[in-house]
Amino acid sequence: MTIQVVASQPYQDQKPGTSGLRKRVPAFQQVHYLQNFVQSIFDTIQAAPGATLVLGGDGRYYNRQAIQIILKMAAANGFGRVLVGQGGILSTPAASCVIRKYKTFGGIILSASHNPGGPDGDFGIKYNMENGGPATETVTEAIYARSKVINEYRIVDAADVALDVIGESQLGNMVVQVIDAVADYAELMESLFDFPAIRSLLASGFRLKFDAMHAVTGPYAREILVKRLGASEDSVMNAVPLEDFGQGHPDPNLTYAHELVEIMYGDNAPEFGAASDGDGDRNMILGDHFFVTPSDSLALMAANARLIPAYAAGIAGVARSMPTSAAVDRVAEELGIPCYETPTGWKFFGNLMDAGKVTLCGEESFGTGSDHVREKDGLWAVLFWLNILAIKRQPVATLVKRHWRQFGRNVYSRHDYENLQTEAAQGVMTLLRDSFASLPGKSFGRYTIASCDDFSYTDPIDGSLSTKQGVRILFEDGSRIVFRLSGTGTEGATLRIYLEAYEPDSTKHDLDAQDALADMIKIALSISELVTRTGRDTPTVIT
Ligand code: G6P
Ligand code: ZN
Repeated sequence: MTIQVVASQPYQDQKPGTSGLRKRVPAFQQVHYLQNFVQSIFDTIQAAPGATLVLGGDGRYYNRQAIQIILKMAAANGFGRVLVGQGGILSTPAASCVIRKYKTFGGIILSASHNPGGPDGDFGIKYNMENGGPATETVTEAIYARSKVINEYRIVDAADVALDVIGESQLGNMVVQVIDAVADYAELMESLFDFPAIRSLLASGFRLKFDAMHAVTGPYAREILVKRLGASEDSVMNAVPLEDFGQGHPDPNLTYAHELVEIMYGDNAPEFGAASDGDGDRNMILGDHFFVTPSDSLALMAANARLIPAYAAGIAGVARSMPTSAAVDRVAEELGIPCYETPTGWKFFGNLMDAGKVTLCGEESFGTGSDHVREKDGLWAVLFWLNILAIKRQPVATLVKRHWRQFGRNVYSRHDYENLQTEAAQGVMTLLRDSFASLPGKSFGRYTIASCDDFSYTDPIDGSLSTKQGVRILFEDGSRIVFRLSGTGTEGATLRIYLEAYEPDSTKHDLDAQDALADMIKIALSISELVTRTGRDTPTVIT
């Protein structure tokens, strides 16, 4: 088999965002575009000859073609073996699990997460390191730097590899091992949670609805929830993965998972509802007519972790991204464990977990996870909740309200303004940064601004510094507003406004978050001049 060295022109726009390189499918289909980026990864990571790589994706449009290209390039770049999920499928947490379990050099995950797919939808690629977590910023920056000057790539000239049958085949000097995409992950889940307790909960008439959103988690949910735990077949909806996610937007939030939301807020709603995203790392948790914010979900998990076999001995610490509410901070304080505040992006948790400093992590962006892998994990979160419910036998809403009664409620909401003109969105951020000196001391009704800053973070393990991670407006009573530009979009700019107010008074815990935060919302719009600068007066998505 011959190795071809193909001459190529570099692209200047291959900068990885919050979670890998994401672009529209036609961008990836440009001449040598994917190949250049893959070669930039290989040139950067410098794997020893014969090393093993994991490869899989969320099954979106272009997944199969990309897998074939990457396999042939891996063979030409001296890898000895690639473990590829059957059909080219691996959810993001399953890929992390496989990298760790088989101690591979690293892995390549093909996904644009929760972004829509299809010929005109999004595609993405990211590299995960040997700990199973997303490459650190140092590595992604080096990949980007390489991509700007790359002028050739290596690929073997070979027929496509059969991906649908489990087993091994030879590609040049490299072995392609097609693995069951679900088995290793399902086994890991069974080792963490009390499956017999969950099975008996489900046998008691407890009803659940899991929305796989026609994305990667369908087969995982069927195997775990239906086959291993005995949930009814119809517990898993939209279970068949489709290349375009059935034209849906596979993001588990109140707006995009509306089919599930209608069921959970309808007559005769099930006791528990959940959804996951395109690549299976996000989760949304719902009860009968009740939405659990991701920030509250993390806090509640931390508070109840000892009920779960894997965490029965206690958790070492917790971490949350800066825009995530401080609900978990209160639990950490009560438990006497450290709580770390990191920039947005799961990669920032990796070092803390590797160093044994934290066990549970979470983000307001519908991500929760633990040190069982190095990615956030949607189905893991669902099983965590089911395990708690199996022991507590209380409705979801009751569980959350009791939690608030004990810890107080961090009333929270995020308002997203999607697809803004980039200059307008950047103008808002610049205005806010320019107002740092004049805002403190200003009062708006009962709220007075105490301080403002741009969040920066020094990694306590490797000392690396990340700056400009979001503008924080902090109020005297502990409430806060955070402004941040999304790092995962592919079109225009998305401005996120995160609103949080602490309410210790349990007689006010039943208030709707939008009502409770109404004054804060007005302040956010006023100090950012958002309406005049962007021409928008309502958010695209509220979570
Ligand atoms: C991805 C990352 C998350 C992060 C999220 C933020 O999903 O894996 O860790 O929280 O992006 O997205 P944003 O669009 O707000 O940058
Ligand atoms: Zn995702």
